Amino acid sequence: MWLPCKCTTKYVAAIRRGVSASFLHVLRRGRSSWNSAAFMPESAGFEGVSGRDALHDYSVSHGESFWDAVARQRLSWIRPFDAVQDCDLSQGRIKWFEGGKLNVSVNCLDRHVHTCPERVALIWERDEQGSEVRYTYRELLEMTCRLGNLLRRYGVKKGDCVTIYMPTCPLAVASMLACARIGAAHNVVFAGFSSEALAERIRDAQSSTVITVNQGVRGGKIAELKRTVDAAVQSCPTVQQVFVAMRTEKQVEMTDRDFALEEEMLKEDVVCEPAAMDSEDVLFLLYTSGSTGKPKGLVHTQAGYLLYAALTHRYVFGYHDGDVFGCVADIGWITGHSYTVYGPLANGGTTVLFESTPVYPDPGRYWDMVERLRINQFYGAPTAIRLLIKYGDQWVKKYDRSSLTTLGSVGEPINTEAWEWYNRVVGEGRCPVVDTWWQTETGGICIAPKPSEPDAEIVPGMAMRPFFGIKPVLMDTEGKLLTSNNTSGALCMAQPWPGMARTIHNNHQRFLETYFQPYPGYFFTGDGAYRSQEGYYQITGRLDDVINVSGHRIGTAEIEDVVNQCSAVAESAVIGYSHNIKGQGVYAFVVLKKGVDIQEADLSKQLNNMVSEKIAKYACPDFIQLAKRLPKTRSGKIMRRVLRKVVDSDLDGLGDLSTLDDPAAVQEIIEGHEKLLSK
Ligand code: WTA
Repeated sequence: MWLPCKCTTKYVAAIRRGVSASFLHVLRRGRSSWNSAAFMPESAGFEGVSGRDALHDYSVSHGESFWDAVARQRLSWIRPFDAVQDCDLSQGRIKWFEGGKLNVSVNCLDRHVHTCPERVALIWERDEQGSEVRYTYRELLEMTCRLGNLLRRYGVKKGDCVTIYMPTCPLAVASMLACARIGAAHNVVFAGFSSEALAERIRDAQSSTVITVNQGVRGGKIAELKRTVDAAVQSCPTVQQVFVAMRTEKQVEMTDRDFALEEEMLKEDVVCEPAAMDSEDVLFLLYTSGSTGKPKGLVHTQAGYLLYAALTHRYVFGYHDGDVFGCVADIGWITGHSYTVYGPLANGGTTVLFESTPVYPDPGRYWDMVERLRINQFYGAPTAIRLLIKYGDQWVKKYDRSSLTTLGSVGEPINTEAWEWYNRVVGEGRCPVVDTWWQTETGGICIAPKPSEPDAEIVPGMAMRPFFGIKPVLMDTEGKLLTSNNTSGALCMAQPWPGMARTIHNNHQRFLETYFQPYPGYFFTGDGAYRSQEGYYQITGRLDDVINVSGHRIGTAEIEDVVNQCSAVAESAVIGYSHNIKGQGVYAFVVLKKGVDIQEADLSKQLNNMVSEKIAKYACPDFIQLAKRLPKTRSGKIMRRVLRKVVDSDLDGLGDLSTLDDPAAVQEIIEGHEKLLSK
């Protein structure tokens, strides 16, 4: 793996001393003399704004002037934009900062190299504990330029899409930024996905280039990533070249199509002319699950996405120059894109690339890392917190966590017990816990307790407050706006914001149908939410057939598609159920074909193999219940609502069964479920 020439931490410490002193000064002035310009320099010209709440009101009521000021000051433009926005949610049209030209990699690298070349950009927390490697902004720029030149030499150009199948590591970040530098889009595929899932995403993105590593290392285990790519590209005729970085010493088989990444990079110049990109050119595709079997490639564009990731990173987490930001999400997910890579780097921050797992080599891994790297903001997932609670407080207390100032949570609802533990044990009660709600579609955090007035309350397990420019609303089942508080409904957004996705790659119609047609004039999130008496938001969960397993989003239809391919299976229904560590687990109801005779253990093995080969291991069913038939409506639709109630043991909540084709099917399902649990 490409290693930096030298490492330096002194610079960061020096910056931290200087900046935190000036920040304290602002805080000490207290609430009465709240100075919006000190809190957010871009807001200096906003008239009559005093306090965070007023700033939020302004950002929503004067969206044009808010985003105009923030975009001009926070991003470096090659050419300034002509119009702030041209959006119409009723048409699903979203355009921001048109006429503007910029380069995302210049915003993330060059401008910091000009002011502080030796500041640490990345700290690569390798799987092998205690072997972290630091990369300065200068080194990351050099790496990115070499990669950009290499991609250009191999014919990658503006408008192409490069697929990146790598673990979280510096070369993965440099690959993303190299694409941005030369104007190509990237498509990062989570390295836990199987070859078939990878192939489907490569084909849909029509990539000619794939970047990968020989092997991945995670939790002490080796993953044969190159081999997975080999299998995938067999069914991807568009692929012309595969670049292979060396994460381990192991030589892997190379064909004519494969090139050793580091060797090729050495041949390249360390200067690479950045492409001047339009604000609305594509920055990346990122595939995520929806309620059909086919994953959707959400498209994010240059300026709006970067601005929103940077602004939320700065203000939700209270990130300041010199802080060390530790987001432990994999770069294969949107959290890794926005808060490991783009947000922190656009802000000139120091960001941690976490390659390992929370329990490797032991359950103290996160907190050992916090102590060693002096992490200030830690951003993780509730599923990991729940797992760590089980191992006991001693694993946390063993390490010095005094550097921590903010703790973030993302990906799924955080239950009160996990929230309290995170706050009390990890943060010693002195770090605000920010439960951040957002999605691949939203590009960045939309609802979170921070920023808020300095001493404003934080309610456990609630995302609470909309970010600047965000206007959430709740809708009832008839599509009417719910205006009162203390009410629940479908969570929609009434206004566009720069970070939102622009389309689904190759399927704009699906984009419109999924997000804009359910509630005309609004963006529909797919989630339900409760708005408290005080006006705070709490996410109640998905309203569609998408589930969240250990923070990994997966459509139940995707799993059903695979289960149904098994030759023994006639049909199936997959639902999520409440799981005390994973948040949700996978429960599959399976009807066998007539005359099929198969042992349950064999079936379970077969289905698990198929799901991990075609999707990923995390999507494997935890329970498989054989059924003679599934409860259906008279029109033949599987009643998943009924199945969910049975699995949740909420038989009183089964509701109206009169629309069922044959209500006796429900009784069989209930009995089968009880039998399975008693095993
Ligand atoms: C869920 C991850 C409750 C939600 C950034 C959303 C949450 C889906 C929270 C998006 C939260 C995310 N509380 N639920 N704080 N954050 N979700 O696209 O259902 O992987 O729609 O983006 O995760 O998952 P995605």
